[in-house]
Amino acid sequence: MTDRTQPLDRIAQRLVRSLVPAPARRFVLRRIRLLLYRGERVECPCCGGRFSRFMPGLSHRAVRVCPRCGAQERHRALWLYLRERTDLLERDISILHWAPEYALQRSLSRLPNAFYVSADLDGDEAMQHMDITDVPFKDDAFDLIVCVHVLEHIPDDRRALAEITRVLRPGGRLLLLDHVRGSARIVRAVQWLLERLTLRLEGDHLLRRPIEHVRALGLRVERDERSKLGVVERVAARKPEAI
Ligand SMILES: C[S@@+](CC[C@H](N)C(=O)[O-])C[C@H]1O[C@@H](n2cnc3c(N)ncnc32)[C@H](O)[C@@H]1O
Ligand SMILES: [Zn+2]
Repeated sequence: MTDRTQPLDRIAQRLVRSLVPAPARRFVLRRIRLLLYRGERVECPCCGGRFSRFMPGLSHRAVRVCPRCGAQERHRALWLYLRERTDLLERDISILHWAPEYALQRSLSRLPNAFYVSADLDGDEAMQHMDITDVPFKDDAFDLIVCVHVLEHIPDDRRALAEITRVLRPGGRLLLLDHVRGSARIVRAVQWLLERLTLRLEGDHLLRRPIEHVRALGLRVERDERSKLGVVERVAARKPEAI
């Protein structure tokens, strides 16, 4: 049977844009999508919703997004990692979440056992505004720090990681996800070309490896996963009890 979900979703977007007042659009569209994507085939671990499928992202259509909470694959993977591979969601913890993604912020901030703070240089999503290279929290303040696609935008990523290490409690975990230099020379050559553009447009560095600073700062890497071309790296690291 042909899947009519996507054309219907596009019609819904157009109708909502022309008929619904701006402040209510997000809410109304979400209600419509819950109906359009209703089903039992996939489950979003972030919000627990079940759907016929995940929907294509609005800016990147290859990304699969939860119709209810907007979680993308990487958010769902991070949440699953926290839930399945750590005990962090089961005990009292303090969490610092940089440049919060809506879905993860929603899930982390609702944990009954967590003291949760989100931070960003600016914007409306985060609870507090601050510079990651000059963090106003005291030493050893957080059990978990989540930092996704932020370090690649920081001119001095070592300084940012030194600040993160300082405010991480001994035994605490850091979860990082960033664009990094690819494994093959040809990939790095393409990244070099792309970086001429991304640095100018978004200050996005593509050819660094924050994991090198993570290790040099004395954190113990527990998990290091790279995408197929090696251009995205996920790191889980822990601050030793005595550093
Ligand atoms: C590409 S966005 C990442 C957003 C989100 N984490 C995600 O993965 O979709 C990069 C974020 O880094 C933040 N940022 C850039 N420089 C920063 C700084 N010096 N301190 C704190 N945040 C910074 C920007 O404000 C922006 O929200
Ligand atoms: Zn969800």
